[in-house]
Amino acid sequence: MTTSSIDLKQYIRGIPDFPKPGILFYDISTLMRNADAWQIAMGRLTAAVAPWSVDMLAAIESRGFLTAAPLASRLGCGLVMLRKPGKLPGQTISYDYDLEYGTDSLHIQADAIVPGQRVVVMDDLLATGGTLAASIALLRKVGAEVVGAATLIELRSLGGRDRLDVPVKTLVAYD
Ligand code: PRP
Ligand code: MG
Repeated sequence: MTTSSIDLKQYIRGIPDFPKPGILFYDISTLMRNADAWQIAMGRLTAAVAPWSVDMLAAIESRGFLTAAPLASRLGCGLVMLRKPGKLPGQTISYDYDLEYGTDSLHIQADAIVPGQRVVVMDDLLATGGTLAASIALLRKVGAEVVGAATLIELRSLGGRDRLDVPVKTLVAYD
């Protein structure tokens, strides 16, 4: 079997009722544990994102860190962290966004982006799109030109892609 025909879904485990009853959790742990499968995933993401001529990848805490760091290394671009409150040292800029119950907030270091830099925002999974939409808004607040978003997994039925006004690349989709 050639690597191009390998279906990465066989390495992603669905765990029912996590973190809450009724939720099917797509677990990338089993993909990362397999060195060959993880290499293939990173190679495919690199090929998908490289045409955007990226200056900087923005990685969303926490599982986005796992996908963005190896990708930035392969692309030869910089890497910045979008973090939950109270985690980043120095001056930060934040963006608040609504959750199903309550609000949350993402922060970036105020000097992380040179205005006009071409930034791609990375996460492991696109569900409702709320996290990526907030990340894009935060990046624009600090002057980034957000040229795309990329994730390993997309949950299509939740329509997250439609909430985003940038091109989106995903490797594995579930209906
Ligand atoms: C999960 C996932 C994405 C986000 C997707 O993160 O890793 O970041 O939810 O959901 P959305 O498209 O509906 O916004 P989670 O909040 O579980 O945190 P973690 O990455 O720190 O585990
Ligand atoms: Mg996450």
